[in-house]
Amino acid sequence: MFSVLDTRPVAPGVTRLEIAAPRVARFWKPGQFVIVRVDGEGERIPLTVVDADPAAGHITLIVQAVGYTTRRLSQVPTGGEIADVVGPLGRPSEIEAFGHVAVVGGGVGTAVAFPTARALQGAGNRVTVIVGARTAAHVILADEIRDAGCDLIVATEDGSAGVKGLVTGPLEELIEADIVDRVIAAGPIPMMRAVAETTRSGAIPTMVSLNPIMVDGTGMCGGCRVRVGGEMKFACVDGPDFDAHLVDFDGLARRNRTYLEFERAALEADMPMAAR
Ligand code: NAD
Ligand code: FES
Repeated sequence: MFSVLDTRPVAPGVTRLEIAAPRVARFWKPGQFVIVRVDGEGERIPLTVVDADPAAGHITLIVQAVGYTTRRLSQVPTGGEIADVVGPLGRPSEIEAFGHVAVVGGGVGTAVAFPTARALQGAGNRVTVIVGARTAAHVILADEIRDAGCDLIVATEDGSAGVKGLVTGPLEELIEADIVDRVIAAGPIPMMRAVAETTRSGAIPTMVSLNPIMVDGTGMCGGCRVRVGGEMKFACVDGPDFDAHLVDFDGLARRNRTYLEFERAALEADMPMAAR
């Protein structure tokens, strides 16, 4: 069992958890994730590790309560326990001196974008993080992004914080100013697709962190398969970061919708999918 050391809400429906997981904390690198099971009967869900403290043996996760299991995980109290935290899994993000990197986080996808942005800043890049959210209340990790030394641009759909609109507005402005050498994006699939289209004509190298359905997280079940450049890849072992200009976003969106009805029914019945 893994102890939950601290849990607190950070946005509507979004919870930050500190978990004692010394082995994960020791080996984790930005971009890697864990597979979590809340209890012995629950489904396995992938979550990007937002931060790790190897000395203390803690990791930080941020979870959005969108289904039965994510809601259960959000409800584990400080001092509670969860059954499994397996990882770190996946390939770390590429951290090199690229120049000026625009890191785009859409909503809760900012939890994926932040550790990579911080590592890129630490590697000597100039990093501009664009955080997109529905409202000011949905913006997460703004203080942490500034504390890491990154420039921060917030875009909210209702204009309650930062500029009004979607993340692609500020990204287009950076590209028009010709100051972006590389783009990295994590968030909803329509956002990652829009970012890819924004950078395609200028051939700006662009990576996206994909979030397909995962089961084992080790390349055995095929659940996370996604077509990239015409080849079948497993996001859990070949990714989760891929060249955005080569990703088949239609296929990814289709696969991610496969279990929507089951998830909705599980949520309504307050039972895990596996039990139905
Ligand atoms: P959301 O739907 O509120 O969108 C957040 C922001 O993304 C928007 O405010 C906007 O700026 C941008 N965006 C969305 N659609 C866009 C479009 N078509 N064009 C341009 N910009 C667009 O996000 P949310 O509810 O906080 O996030 C939930 C989504 O993020 C889920 O779909 C979840 O699966 C996904 N997610 C992805 C990852 C990952 O690794 N890529 C990790 C966690 C969550
Ligand atoms: Fe099973 Fe990737 S999650 S192969």
